[in-house]
Amino acid sequence: MAKTQKTYNCQSCGAISSKWSGKCEACHEWNTITEEIQQAAPKGLGTKKKGRQIELVSLSGSPSKTYPRHMSGINEFDRVMGGGFVPGSATLIGGDPGIGKSTLLLQVVCALAKKDKRCVYVSGEEAVDQVRMRAQRLGLADAPVELASATNVRDIVASVEGGEKPVSLLVIDSIQTMFIDALDSAPGTVTQVRTSAQEIIRTAKSKGISVMFVGHVTKDGQIAGPRVLEHMVDTVLHFEGDRSHQFRILRGVKNRFGPTDEIGVFEMAGHGLDEVDNPSALFLSQRHQDVAGSAVLAALEGTRPLLVEVQALVAPSSLAAPRRAVLGYDHNRLAMIAAVLETRCGISLSGHDIFLNIAGGIRIAEPAADVAVAAALISALSGEALPADSVFFGEIGLAGEIRQVPQPDIRLKEASKLGFEQAIMPMVKNRKAPPPKGIKLVEADHVNKIANLFSGSDVHQMQV
Ligand code: TYD
Ligand code: MG
Repeated sequence: MAKTQKTYNCQSCGAISSKWSGKCEACHEWNTITEEIQQAAPKGLGTKKKGRQIELVSLSGSPSKTYPRHMSGINEFDRVMGGGFVPGSATLIGGDPGIGKSTLLLQVVCALAKKDKRCVYVSGEEAVDQVRMRAQRLGLADAPVELASATNVRDIVASVEGGEKPVSLLVIDSIQTMFIDALDSAPGTVTQVRTSAQEIIRTAKSKGISVMFVGHVTKDGQIAGPRVLEHMVDTVLHFEGDRSHQFRILRGVKNRFGPTDEIGVFEMAGHGLDEVDNPSALFLSQRHQDVAGSAVLAALEGTRPLLVEVQALVAPSSLAAPRRAVLGYDHNRLAMIAAVLETRCGISLSGHDIFLNIAGGIRIAEPAADVAVAAALISALSGEALPADSVFFGEIGLAGEIRQVPQPDIRLKEASKLGFEQAIMPMVKNRKAPPPKGIKLVEADHVNKIANLFSGSDVHQMQV
């Protein structure tokens, strides 16, 4: 009989230790270590037995087989995948509970099944009837999807390997519920998750099945379980959004077959997720144009330009440490911009509470938002609305300088398409192509210029 040995594995980072402790020494997380039974390595491994020589081939050869990608027809999804599913590939999709992962995958699987591809949906979390009810709600009950509620990997693998028609897409919802009966650890533990995923991926690769795993996320938004899961798959997607808003963003984090940082935008409606083809128009649809403190940012998500509204509210504060409340933007960057405005432009925000919000529940992480944030703050403080036909973008440095950001022309084109007539942006040096027509460029190299352009008399204190 194979020897077994107890090990203590961190469920957060996958580190293995020989004794239990409350805190993982590797990642410093608390309460993440659980006991697992490790099977002894099979005979032969670790001995000095010589390996077989493998055939080394030249890089320049063409692939022996090219597989056509499977397109689901849901454009927002296909684009994030880099143009549809690659047969034999594995994808992991993570996201907060209740954000809509199961809904999205059910829609994708039904769309592909309707294109005459054999698709299997295995749920380890919901009963067959629950999935059916969801499909009815989505109006997809007639899609020829093969459905099962199962958690035993051996059974699942046996079921998808057989059959006359090969399976094109296999959805596993979720990988944390799957288990292999040969292992003694509980489902959801590092060993089970890793071995189950390995087993399913091996089958998928050998049979040309695209497999999609749903992965749970931890409190801080990481995909639960060992990082190794992210290494094992070809594509990692994050499904994010604010549950109190209807917008959902599918973001490519890793993709071996396409670009990363690509996003797909969806809207959660009563009948499932709707694609949003023109997110800029949607994000700006409820904008009040004549309100102070609102600036339109021309952001870039992957290759996709996105116009969003940055809203700022600045109110006199009686607190010794005034409030800085931020939604959808980095707290530290706001503090930095406020300090730059104060030191470099003489605009004092220190006695004021600042509230900053990116409208629509979207999160903007790129530094190109700095100029829009600064403009919104200046406008909020002066009480004068910014021109409604202007968009803003550019990074602000600590000296108050405005720095170049990637892809200005794509941002300008999107702004022009939505009827904006003026862009406040960094100076573009070494232009390779002329700027898009129909939009006036106001190139600024310092925040002072923005302060001078838009500030009312009470904030306008320093001349350039
Ligand atoms: P679900 O796909 O179950 O989330 P996850 O698998 O990520 O945990 O989504 C559940 C949420 O979506 C639930 O709170 C209700 C909402 N929802 C709708 O608003 N409309 C719909 O048509 C469906 C199916 C769900
Ligand atoms: Mg689910």
